[in-house]
Amino acid sequence: MTVLEESPFVRACRGLSVPHTPVWFMRQAGRSLPEYRKIREGIGMLDSCRRPDLVTEITLQPVRRHGVDAAILFSDIVVPIAAAGIDLDIVAGTGPVVAEPVRAESDLERLRPITPADVDFVAEAVKLLVGELGDTPLIGFAGAPFTLASYLIEGGPSRTYLKTKAMMYGSPELWHALLSRLADITLTFLRTQVDAGVSAVQLFDSWAGALSEADYRTYVMPHSATVLRGLSGAGVPRIHFGVGTAVLLEAMGEAGADVVGVDWRTPLDIATRRIGPDRAVQGNLDPAILFAGWDVVEREARRVLEQGRSAPGHVFNLGHGVMPETDPDILTRLVALVHEVSAR
Ligand code: CP3
Repeated sequence: MTVLEESPFVRACRGLSVPHTPVWFMRQAGRSLPEYRKIREGIGMLDSCRRPDLVTEITLQPVRRHGVDAAILFSDIVVPIAAAGIDLDIVAGTGPVVAEPVRAESDLERLRPITPADVDFVAEAVKLLVGELGDTPLIGFAGAPFTLASYLIEGGPSRTYLKTKAMMYGSPELWHALLSRLADITLTFLRTQVDAGVSAVQLFDSWAGALSEADYRTYVMPHSATVLRGLSGAGVPRIHFGVGTAVLLEAMGEAGADVVGVDWRTPLDIATRRIGPDRAVQGNLDPAILFAGWDVVEREARRVLEQGRSAPGHVFNLGHGVMPETDPDILTRLVALVHEVSAR
């Protein structure tokens, strides 16, 4: 047993007993931290993801400041598709913008398979981080095929996923060809991170909540399962997360997750009943609650911990990412509260 296998975070992911409920925050590295805004000054988002020295420093910032139980690699879900040959940029305040969206079969050629060498900067950053982090586990991550496809097809963020769904329903062969390419790229990206030493991986299907359960199972789940099942022998817990996924929780577990991430809309005890007794849960404080004053934060955090007790394992998190305007001191206080209230 290594130190990392015994960490509260990895043990909770596996449904084992823990000295306290582990806590980390999606988007803990980012604009809520003044030290992040300072180090990123004048450096583009994608450029910073490709610099192992910067990635290491930015990933460590929230660990030092908040004392969270896990670090998450500083990167972005579009990094592997940029490495695959797609011309894209991450625009501040907007998100990923794709120069030429993928709309036809002839566009698929622009999405080549990747090899670990195409993302060697990620492996290098992971190795540096594992050396720096000591007994704090590092979480690797990737975007799931559906969420990546939505950016490629729409050309940027979308509220309705109109073009995405038009391809999914109207050209199912093209859809499945695109998603299977994305699944291969994602699997290579995650394997590279596992080989370099991450202790867990999270697959972000942030926008899968746009789908019904039946359509998720037909059009999306087989491709996410390719990724998650492809890592079944890797020896690291697999976390599967999306937003607005109340009706998808069971399927997202079945896709091959050890931990299902839950947004704030579904209480963790109800989520656990849907997901079943074989998987841990992660979540699920509404990130907006952090703006409502400490008394509300404390009350709601206690509720989340209480509801999380019905799961075989609970990793405390927000129901989605930290908003840039969040007061970082509230996050530090929240970590201490979770540790104190859940100590056993
Ligand atoms: O701390 C962490 O969680 C690790 C870093 C991380 C980033 N992106 C850094 C980032 C992670 C895990 C992601 C994943 C990601 N990227 C997702 C899935 C998670 C989720 O939020 O649902 C998605 C959908 C993206 C695509 C993306 N990239 C968006 C929507 C944005 C925000 C655009 C904006 O400016 O509001 C980005 C850019 C991005 N990725 C930033 C960060 C810190 C902000 C850019 C900046 O700081 O200049």
